[in-house]
Amino acid sequence: MAPKGRVLVTGSGGLLGSRLVRVLARRGYEVVAVYREHPPPRVEGVRALRLDVTDWVRLEDLVLKARPSVIVHAAAFTDVDGCERDRVWAWRVNVGATRSIVRVARVVNAHLVYVSTDYVFDGEKGLYREDDVPAPVNYYGLTKLVAEELVRSSDLLYTVVRPSAIYGVGGSKKSFAEYVAERLFRGERVRALVDQYVSPTYAGLLAEALAEIVEVKPLGVLHVAGPRMSRYEFAVRLAEELGLPGELVEEARMEEFSGRWLARRPRDSSLDTSRARSILETPFHDIDRALELFKQEWEKRRGQQG
Ligand SMILES: NC(=O)c1ccc[n+]([C@@H]2O[C@H](COP(=O)([O-])OP(=O)(O)OC[C@H]3O[C@@H](n4cnc5c(N)ncnc54)[C@H](OP(=O)(O)O)[C@@H]3O)[C@@H](O)[C@H]2O)c1
Repeated sequence: MAPKGRVLVTGSGGLLGSRLVRVLARRGYEVVAVYREHPPPRVEGVRALRLDVTDWVRLEDLVLKARPSVIVHAAAFTDVDGCERDRVWAWRVNVGATRSIVRVARVVNAHLVYVSTDYVFDGEKGLYREDDVPAPVNYYGLTKLVAEELVRSSDLLYTVVRPSAIYGVGGSKKSFAEYVAERLFRGERVRALVDQYVSPTYAGLLAEALAEIVEVKPLGVLHVAGPRMSRYEFAVRLAEELGLPGELVEEARMEEFSGRWLARRPRDSSLDTSRARSILETPFHDIDRALELFKQEWEKRRGQQG
């Protein structure tokens, strides 16, 4: 079967990217998977290329040679406190690389899918819609917002996708959900915030939704995320689903953590997903389905660990 088209994915070894390249390959795309340290999964149809996206010359050269019809730009410096600590690097990775990608996407006439974040909002309101005014409270959010604006003010065909608190098992770093599951499994207590609200987004369903976006190419900004809940509510739901002791989840408040955090966090950065739900068929918002899939991943991982 001839491939459906060529898709270039940055951040292809990350929590989201590693799932996305699998889904795209399964759906018959030829995938050019850009990574820096953590390689993407070895799957047929996925060509892995090692590159630091701050190397503009090589990045643009690679895209010019690959000539993808769609670029999914998911690579970012995602450590929120790290971005505060090293603002120069955060700007180079999150803004500079996006500027390069916008420039070269125009040359090869590719549709650009930019993966942004709920952290573009200040968190004072919650359940943000796509057209609500962003006002980031930390440097990570600022760099992601500036990158969004580079995409939105270009004359490209683009989709900006905003997820929130992505979770899954494995990947180059541990998500909150995996951290909670591991601690509860060992019988250890977990402190989870009752006053910080997000829209936990399961990486597997987000990857399916992104693959649908690659196919359908809806234009503009889309909030692709799970339902609004506090970190505490999420941890308790997760414990229930995994059959782990939910009573070990203890209530904590943001003020207890704020001394340890370098970056400010939004209080309620949950997202209103109605627009994306009216356009996409993928059930990315379905928390029951998401937790069931998370459970399968988690049990598989435990089985592998013996
Ligand atoms: N995680 C969340 O809760 C969350 C929430 C909302 C939005 N997002 C957005 O979703 C996207 C995917 O995030 P994720 O959760 O999958 O994070 P992740 O696991 O940290 O993945 C980020 C990816 O970016 C790559 N990367 C970083 N610097 C790079 C560089 N200089 N050159 C090339 N690649 C580089 C990393 O590669 P190496 O590991 O190999 O360095 C990694 O594969 C990001 O754009 C993020 O801003 C994340």
